[in-house]
Amino acid sequence: MNHLEMFEKIVIQQRARIEKIKEDRTPIDYEGMEKIVIGVIGGDGIGPFITEQARNVLEQILSKEIDSGKVEFRSIDGCTIEKRAAAGKAIPDDVLEKIKQCHVLLKGPTTTPRKGDKWANVESANVAMRKELDLFANVRPVKVPELGIDWVFFRENTECLYAMGSQGINITDDLAIDFRVITTPGTERIARLAFDYARKNGKKKITIVTKANVIKTTDGKFLDVCKRVAEEYPEIETDDWYIDIMTAKLLDEKRRNQFEVFILPNLYGDILTDEAAELQGGVGTAGSANLGTQYAMFEAIHGSAPRMVEEGRAAYADPSSMIRAGSMLLSHIGYQAYADMLSEAIEKCTVTERKVTITGRAGGATGADLTNYILREVKGVKNG
Ligand code: IPM
Ligand code: MG
Repeated sequence: MNHLEMFEKIVIQQRARIEKIKEDRTPIDYEGMEKIVIGVIGGDGIGPFITEQARNVLEQILSKEIDSGKVEFRSIDGCTIEKRAAAGKAIPDDVLEKIKQCHVLLKGPTTTPRKGDKWANVESANVAMRKELDLFANVRPVKVPELGIDWVFFRENTECLYAMGSQGINITDDLAIDFRVITTPGTERIARLAFDYARKNGKKKITIVTKANVIKTTDGKFLDVCKRVAEEYPEIETDDWYIDIMTAKLLDEKRRNQFEVFILPNLYGDILTDEAAELQGGVGTAGSANLGTQYAMFEAIHGSAPRMVEEGRAAYADPSSMIRAGSMLLSHIGYQAYADMLSEAIEKCTVTERKVTITGRAGGATGADLTNYILREVKGVKNG
């Protein structure tokens, strides 16, 4: 295939994708469901350790529902870097099939190979899963009460440079081209989700983040579409910032607590949410929801930290990212009271009371110590 044909193929693929987005799919209704199946994927590196902690917490909170058969936890093995590299696939077929039989997923971080390392350079399992299950919204809350920070990021999760991150073209030895995709319906759906969230949760302000002064076509579209959606929500104040100055403003103590909800294309969302999480205590503290209309996946925002495992420190990894993701899962499947109870316990144990401190190293608390502390807190509330 010559390069023009490769480009043509990409255009055809993306146009077909747009048609699929436009198909109106009724969101899945968990309440009316006989049984909600929660798939658990441990992932790589510290993934299995912290995912186990989060599963433990959720299983204890949902014990009644598990006993009655309303909720089932199901382990999904084989989504490891070894198996993915051997299969030459971001997600092996049999794993994907098992994933699709669940309704929601609790997923530990998976290693993303990059050019030049020891693994076959397959696409990131995260990215593939988000695309395969059409999890178009990556919702990432960051809260630092003592600094007055209460942010929720709505990161578009299927487009931007990620849409074809593994389909760039080496035209010659000297010329490499990647492609960035922004679509109207793809932007509309993330914008609408963010504005609906703001409306339902009494948020007064939404900030759109792009680099539309330079990346005129794709970011220009993203900004235009978000602004058009904003017109339907006149009670919410909307402003827009460029990504460079936005990264600075998150550090501006006078300004940052005025921001509430952000909407961003995929890559800017990836970068800005790591910065935001650092203010909360590190990426190890931040969970996220990957939402589509048919599936949802809950995970940490950080990677698999293989070095921690190599250095024998996996047991000291902070599970609070995954436990926070677990609280978002509870809320998503309709157990809002449990979700609130869990997030209050996390807040008490990791922010206000902090009887246990995770440092990531021996000498600090283990992940299991923190989990037990959170569970004691939850049980205190649940039983008393
Ligand atoms: C994240 C991660 C992923 C991303 C990686 C692992 C592909 O950084 O969830 O933010 O870039 O989306
Ligand atoms: Mg990231």
